[in-house]
Amino acid sequence: MYPIIRNRRLRSNEAIRSLVRETIVSPDDFLVPLFVVEGKAIKEEIPSMPNYFRYSLDLLENEVKELWKMGLKSVLLFAKVPDNLKDNKGTEAVNPDGLMQRAVKTVKNACPDMLVMTDVALDPYSSYGHDGIIENGLVLNDESVEVLTEMSVSHAEAGADFVAPSDMMDGRILSIREALEDDGFYNTGIMSYSAKYASAFYGPFRDALDSAPVDEKDIPKDKKTYQMDYANRFEAIRETEMDIDEGADIVMVKPGLCYLDIVREIKNEVDVPVAVYQVSGEYAMVKAAAEKGWLNHDAVVMEQLTAIKRAGANIIASYFAKDAIRILG
Ligand code: PBG
Repeated sequence: MYPIIRNRRLRSNEAIRSLVRETIVSPDDFLVPLFVVEGKAIKEEIPSMPNYFRYSLDLLENEVKELWKMGLKSVLLFAKVPDNLKDNKGTEAVNPDGLMQRAVKTVKNACPDMLVMTDVALDPYSSYGHDGIIENGLVLNDESVEVLTEMSVSHAEAGADFVAPSDMMDGRILSIREALEDDGFYNTGIMSYSAKYASAFYGPFRDALDSAPVDEKDIPKDKKTYQMDYANRFEAIRETEMDIDEGADIVMVKPGLCYLDIVREIKNEVDVPVAVYQVSGEYAMVKAAAEKGWLNHDAVVMEQLTAIKRAGANIIASYFAKDAIRILG
């Protein structure tokens, strides 16, 4: 007795495999994170993120032009703020002439059609490395939301197409949406980091921005009172649905690979686009293993990106975007 149905027929050569392939990663899928610093002619490699760089604004210009030529049409900006500009309230975050605000203008000048999203959270601006304001050892919610809201409007004024609140304070999406409406920014979108977990995979990113929580008395050592417990699933759905009700145009799950069950579940549950952030630690792991010759870099990159898309991602924020373009040929 031999099987009549043979699944291997559909796998017998690349032509048939490509004909029946369900998930194709394309340049259109990517949102490219970019780190900017003050200064001139700076392109410095981030030690824990091999081949990933911080750019001063003059070199950012070339970088976004190159991305555009490669078919990468959306960027997500992060600013590395000098220590002397950091304080508890993130005052520098709302400076109309701050690094982030100038970075938005730089990208728009260099490449007017490039979609620009900005990270909204206080950690790069906070002297304590937290996403909100600290008082008596606690991260304040509503006071932080006020600053995050002002910060969002300031990014919109600079020309950001989308603001991307990554802070996980309660109620910030509604507050930001209302402020944007009040100021006439009807077309400025919100991509909410809605299911953002308290993850150890953010380590290299905190190196990149020098934004890790400080080790001081009365300062929380981690972000577990605002970012989600990675043991939880229903909470991710609740957070995401709330953000949509408050006005999020795009929702996000973060990190990527360890959370693809959450991605699928949210994709099945909601009808707005779902973004996934393949974070810095995920990038660093692949680079490190590949450097040692323990993994085939390009094969693993495409397998991970395809898995993220297969799980339901409409948008992939990834440090591998340029690698993927090269690999796709
Ligand atoms: C800031 C922010 C973080 C990341 C994106 N926005 C770090 C954090 O929450 O500590 C992580 C991205 C990455 O690891 O690649 N709120």
